[in-house]
Amino acid sequence: MKIAGFGVEEWLNKWEKSATYDISQSTISSMTMQEALALDGQQGASFYQQLDQEKMNYGWIEGSPEFKQEVAKLYAHIDADNILQTNGATGANHLALYALIEPGDHVISEYPSYQQLYDIPKSLGADVDFWHIHEDQNWYPDINELKSLIRPNTKMICLNNANNPTGTLLDKAFLQQVVELARQVGAYVLVDEVYLPLDDPDQFTSIVDLYDKGIATNSLSKTYSMPGIRIGWTASNATVADLFRKYRDYTMICAGVFNDLMATYILKHRDQVLARNRQLVMNNLAIYRDWIDSEPRASVVMPQAVSTSFPKLDVPEDIEAFCIRLLKETGVLLVPGNRFDMPGHVRLGYCADETTLREGLKRLSAFLRQYD
Ligand SMILES: Cc1ncc(COP(=O)(O)O)c(C=O)c1O
Repeated sequence: MKIAGFGVEEWLNKWEKSATYDISQSTISSMTMQEALALDGQQGASFYQQLDQEKMNYGWIEGSPEFKQEVAKLYAHIDADNILQTNGATGANHLALYALIEPGDHVISEYPSYQQLYDIPKSLGADVDFWHIHEDQNWYPDINELKSLIRPNTKMICLNNANNPTGTLLDKAFLQQVVELARQVGAYVLVDEVYLPLDDPDQFTSIVDLYDKGIATNSLSKTYSMPGIRIGWTASNATVADLFRKYRDYTMICAGVFNDLMATYILKHRDQVLARNRQLVMNNLAIYRDWIDSEPRASVVMPQAVSTSFPKLDVPEDIEAFCIRLLKETGVLLVPGNRFDMPGHVRLGYCADETTLREGLKRLSAFLRQYD
């Protein structure tokens, strides 16, 4: 099985630990354990009490019943039985594609988005068509283009909602049009839903609440600021969940006792986590907007209170060479747009902590002045 290198991951693996001002990431500034455990108002006393009693055996294979219940609450129509815990959303996407895609299948993937969603199906032998997003349409893809791509034998449509790298949210009306087309040919719609619009989470509609053959993947990594616990999940109908169980046994067994406990704890304190993150996102979004307004070499389709953005930078230089020089000379890290096959842009993660964001943008602007 051959697979392309994962553009963003390879970039981050190489450079992220040398950054002083890392404004490349798509997580809302991660919580420390201390900060997370303070959410219960007792510095995690009951969490530690429970942890102390846990045997470090395999734990719950599919995720604990509490975890599955908490996740099921995020959807209108999903039974906890049909939630399967995975190793991050990465594991969830992999599981869904590994279980459902066969050589010769036709797959349509939103492009660019999270690279797993097109390069894993390709590696499994699928015939993958790109459904391009368009900057001049607020980074939406065009529904008429989907109409021309879809075939009677299309097996799956893959979306990332909200989108990495642009931060654009596809609204319910648009998703309904996608579902309508998918339904006509019986295709699955797999949606990676790790990014939630924090200004108004109710704007978001999960694919599993719109379509029986919808599959949602998600995790604690972005919206919940806990990528370190490596917990994600799939949500689907019962038949698909049973199929996933079969493939899952070959790839992960379980996600770990500590990680499950921590994930459950975070989901039980979801309201507090979202309140923390809403404040951070809205505050940083205002700083970011001011910077865009004052920086003549940058323009952007503003993200919808989602923790990633994809500004266009006016630099007369190869974008990757620019980003490497920027890092080496100023300590600021971005992801060059060529890693998403869009070299005029960079991914800018404005949901770093405020000090890092302010200093990172200041240094980026100073660096851009060399071209004036
Ligand atoms: C769209 C998307 N899906 C999944 C992931 C990885 O998520 P996790 O850390 O839960 O594996 C990322 C990380 O950047 C992402 O942007």
